[in-house]
Amino acid sequence: KRLILVGPPGSGKGTQSPIIKDEYCLCHLATGDMLRAAVAAKTPLGIKAKEAMDKGELVSDDLVVSIIDEAMKKPSCHKGFILDGFPRTVVQAQKLDEMLEKQGVKVDKVLNFAIDDAILEERITGRWIHPGSGRSYHTKFAPPKVPGVDDVTGEPLIQRKDDTAAVLKSRLEAFHKQTEPVIDYYSKKSIVAHLHAEKAPKEVTSEVEKLLLICS
Ligand code: AP5
Ligand code: ZN
Ligand code: ZN
Repeated sequence: KRLILVGPPGSGKGTQSPIIKDEYCLCHLATGDMLRAAVAAKTPLGIKAKEAMDKGELVSDDLVVSIIDEAMKKPSCHKGFILDGFPRTVVQAQKLDEMLEKQGVKVDKVLNFAIDDAILEERITGRWIHPGSGRSYHTKFAPPKVPGVDDVTGEPLIQRKDDTAAVLKSRLEAFHKQTEPVIDYYSKKSIVAHLHAEKAPKEVTSEVEKLLLICS
């Protein structure tokens, strides 16, 4: 299966991805996670991306397309993938189509994490992540066993620099202006499925499972 997850910041893409990935033997490619790793490692790419990310703006199409192009070559992606946070502009969607066309494959399903903006601030400001794995927690909705510590590795959790109410505003603006047109782009191909992303994590997971069974 080749899946795309689209939704505003905090809609649950990163929470659902690891679960779906394991159930369907897919690789999980999250451009946000890859960019944050590049920023932390201070690679040339990370240095270029940092400013836009800190402001909650999108990084350039060329940069993220090159990251995805490279990442999709991994053997673990050959059976299928979950793209989390990509494509985020219509240009990125067109580039992705070109890449997949060369391989003779196409996107099977686009999962739209539909949710009201008003819910997102609480989700974003309460989030804690384990930088090594990308696992995310929430002080209220998904607390770790020990506060501030990753359940699996025992390593410390951190907050994302862009997870403030102020930066969230810019991220939402970018979503509505630049990413919502991506949903229209795929709607024309009749491959978009809408999820009720405001529901509890487990309910969202079962919505995804039902969809993937029906539409395999
Ligand atoms: P990115 O890392 O992709 O961030 P985002 O899209 O803003 O999405 P988030 O990671 O904030 O949300 P999520 O949906 O994964 O939420 P999560 O599941 O963690 O991008 C960051 C930046 O990188 C961008 O701003 C841009 O600069 C750059 N970038 C990345 N990709 C790019 C691209 N393609 N082009 C250009 N630039 C790009 O959940 C959030 C919280 O809520 C967690 O604490 C979680 O525990 C909790 N939660 C999750 N689900 C539920 C639920 N159902 N009920 C209650 N709580 C829940
Ligand atoms: Zn995420
Ligand atoms: Zn909108």
